Amino acid sequence: MEVIIQKNTDAGCLLGARIIAKLVREKPDAVLGLATGRTPLQLYQELIRLHRTEGLDFSRITTFNLDEYVGLPATHDQSYRWFMRENFFRHINIDQRRTHVPDGTAADVHAECRDYEKRIEAAGGIDLQLLGLGRNGHIGFNEPTGSLRSRTWIKILSEQTLRDNSAVFGDFAQMPRHAITMGVGTILDARRVLLLAFGPAKCRAVTAMVEGPLAAICPASALQLHPRATILLDDTSAAGL
Ligand code: GLP
Repeated sequence: MEVIIQKNTDAGCLLGARIIAKLVREKPDAVLGLATGRTPLQLYQELIRLHRTEGLDFSRITTFNLDEYVGLPATHDQSYRWFMRENFFRHINIDQRRTHVPDGTAADVHAECRDYEKRIEAAGGIDLQLLGLGRNGHIGFNEPTGSLRSRTWIKILSEQTLRDNSAVFGDFAQMPRHAITMGVGTILDARRVLLLAFGPAKCRAVTAMVEGPLAAICPASALQLHPRATILLDDTSAAGL
């Protein structure tokens, strides 16, 4: 693991955006794995800025998002498809047909999981997977104690994740209890992984991920096995290292 500690979220997101922009310039048809959540928002803003000011070209880029809530249509403002469109895709020159987010409304969600894996494979695999980190050590929606070799699957959201995400969701009672997520094995197959975690609330999970034992109780610890994982932190999330 390459651990990089920046002085704050702004600096961390700028560096993260620079790493992705470099890949997009070097490989204009790269396959990016993308993440939602509050953490990567500034990173997306910086990529949008680079698109507008320097013409960073996304026209041949393909994307696969990590996860989606089961039951939420793309028109729901808390769906991850909506998040990606509003916060990134509609501001850049990406071909919408090349953007993939699991379909949480599929009639057969298990078939959707299998199909998602096939689509990633058909695209040639993921060049760089962007990740956030749950306070309980989850990546994507791979909650503690799941298989570290899992492929795209359905996960039941933990109480803590429901509570954490209800802050943006608005209404706890209305939150979906399940999500489709790339598995830990799917994430480990990416040729490069870039995880961002900022703020004191992530400190414990960061310590377990970087210095703890490889264990299903902290799914992010599986990144210790990845040959090219970059972990971008700030002073507060890195305080336990
Ligand atoms: C969510 C998402 C993850 C995200 C994490 C952290 O539940 N499924 O992909 O990385 O929790 O979210 P945030 O960045 O808002 O702290």
